Amino acid sequence: MTDDRKPFYARPLVQMGMVAVVAAAATLALLALYSNISMRKSEAKQRSMKLVELGETTVDPAEWGKNFPREYDSYLRTAEGYSTKYGGAGSEGLPLSRLQEDPRLRTIFDGYAFAIDFNRRRGHAYMLEDQRETKRVTERPQPGACLHCHASNTVAYREAGLKQGAPGTLDEPFTSPNGQAQLMAGFEAISKMSYADASRLVKHSVACIDCHDPRNMQVRVTKPGFIRGIDALARSSQPVPHLPSIEKWRKGDRSAAYDPNRDASRQEMRSMVCGQCHVEYYCGPKVTLFFPWHNGLKVEQIEATYDAYTFPDGDRFYDWSHGRTGAEVLKAQHPEFEMWSQGIHARSAVACADCHMPYMREGAIKISDHQVRSPLLDVSRSCQTCHRFPEAEIKARVEIIQDRTKALMDRAEDAVVALIDALQQARKDGMNEVALQPVFALQRKAQWRVDFVNAENSMGFHAPQEAARILAEAIDYARQGQLALRAQPPATGAKPGN
Ligand code: HEC
Ligand code: HEC
Ligand code: HEC
Ligand code: HEC
Ligand code: HEC
Repeated sequence: MTDDRKPFYARPLVQMGMVAVVAAAATLALLALYSNISMRKSEAKQRSMKLVELGETTVDPAEWGKNFPREYDSYLRTAEGYSTKYGGAGSEGLPLSRLQEDPRLRTIFDGYAFAIDFNRRRGHAYMLEDQRETKRVTERPQPGACLHCHASNTVAYREAGLKQGAPGTLDEPFTSPNGQAQLMAGFEAISKMSYADASRLVKHSVACIDCHDPRNMQVRVTKPGFIRGIDALARSSQPVPHLPSIEKWRKGDRSAAYDPNRDASRQEMRSMVCGQCHVEYYCGPKVTLFFPWHNGLKVEQIEATYDAYTFPDGDRFYDWSHGRTGAEVLKAQHPEFEMWSQGIHARSAVACADCHMPYMREGAIKISDHQVRSPLLDVSRSCQTCHRFPEAEIKARVEIIQDRTKALMDRAEDAVVALIDALQQARKDGMNEVALQPVFALQRKAQWRVDFVNAENSMGFHAPQEAARILAEAIDYARQGQLALRAQPPATGAKPGN
């Protein structure tokens, strides 16, 4: 066989040529790759370019935006409205009314400010104006404590604390002992002010400084209610397997308070920053705002904390006297942090930010999306990083959970309304107060549970089985109440059964 008969590519000259071509192509590819990498590197450098000096008094997010334009742009987009089947507040004009959607709530909240105005939540950009404008504020007196979760007040608290005589200066680090003393003194003082006076001290919705350390951009918590609440939780004996740093702190000597800014892992902080506000709380005229976590995060543990609590004036704890029945009842508020803690995602160390602030890529840069909103609007970034199912399948799984929760919640609300009607009738019939007391207790329990799931904003998704358990208990307590009323001898003196 001669060389000529070799296949074309096997001839030495051709081979040499091919090697050269391949080498050249490889070089070009390498060069291209290199220039791409170095471009990306410089892009990546740009992201941390320091254009302005940020400090403990820089409240305006636009200033932070000069150094971090991408995060700032997405943060501004929280002003965009949307709706999903159960999420969002609608895409135009005023937010949708939860009272119009579900008129039973007017009966359940009768006699309380929530019966006059209660809307769907919307984006962070609106938190301050929606609070200033709600009829719950314009038609009822409210304390300055309301602002704890509706404004950037890290600096306002410290300034007020200094006026109260707290030590040090404003530019000391937030976590320094002086910084903390200023924060807590100011929080106490502002919480007691009238809403109108306190509102004049703040200008922005939640801002960069409330979640980030200006020196190094590390995530931090700054809200006094959370700092105290999470310490109370740490001091309880309830297991919190989803927060390993608390379990670890409990094994130590406990001489210093549990401090999330020192003790929590980065992954825990990615939920704790949200737990500063998306939680059940008490905020009324008698005592400073607090998070009721002293016995744990579950619905009955929070109830136990309230049941054991007496106000400084000696009264037992209740949010209001029900307008139709007179029962002293409780109101639940957005317990997302608590409900999430009972679900499989928390247990698997999946944080709020994993779903609600997913990473997004811009060139080589990976940033956290600060347009905090429903994850169902971008399933690929929010869920498919972990779940390898098609988008339609993932959405369908969420919808099944939410539809089931809604159906059970409808039954539970019907049961509570039926109990309220029956109680109202019993009062009309002149049933005596002593006989009514145990039924009031059942109304309080049933109503608290329905409201816990209804006020939680994921329609069961954050912990599906827990939501179902709570609703089943609500139905049971409400029906027990009705049975107890039937068992009472009628006030007219007629015998039962007549
Ligand atoms: C595994 C993903 C996941 C995690 C983790 C998670 N959420 Fe959610 N969240 C969802 C989904 C899905 C919904 C339902 C959205 C809808 O109905 O459009 C939701 C709904 C919400 C809503 C209502 C959103 C709306 O559009 O109205 C809020 C508020 C919320 N979550 C806060 C939190 C907080 C706070 C945490 C952490 C304590 C958290 N979530 C953890 C997936 C998650
Ligand atoms: C300073 C308190 C505060 C913090 C911190 C906070 N939120 Fe909110 N969040 C609110 C308030 C208040 C609203 C409702 C605003 C309104 O309706 O005007 C809200 C609304 C939302 C909504 C509804 C958005 C929409 O457009 O309907 C989601 C989702 C949400 N928050 C998730 C989170 C997550 C996740 C975190 C943590 C990364 C977080 N929030 C941190 C107070 C807070
Ligand atoms: C512990 C944090 C916290 C405190 C304190 C707080 N809020 Fe909110 N508020 C939130 C969060 C989170 C949302 C968004 C979730 C939701 O709407 O359920 C919200 C939503 C709202 C909304 C919009 C939805 C609605 O309910 O109509 C109004 C209005 C509001 N709050 C008023 C108030 C008033 C008035 C007070 C004082 C009595 C108060 N808030 C105290 C965290 C808080
Ligand atoms: C409600 C809390 C919250 C607010 C408000 C907030 N951030 Fe963040 N930010 C986070 C979380 C959570 C992360 C993810 C941190 C992590 O994974 O360690 C983050 C990450 C970042 C990072 C690190 C890079 C990245 O994108 O992951 C930068 C830079 C940043 N934020 C800038 C800002 C700026 C600028 C603002 C104000 C315009 C702001 N943030 C407001 C919670 C917040
Ligand atoms: C960081 C990873 C991660 C992300 C992001 C994530 N999940 Fe999950 N998800 C898990 C893990 C882990 C489990 C537990 C089951 C398992 O181990 O596969 C789980 C379980 C579930 C389940 C079963 C729930 C149950 O109670 O049994 C559903 C439904 C689900 N995820 C939906 C979602 C949706 C929708 C999103 C986006 C909004 C999402 N997940 C985002 C990790 C994740």
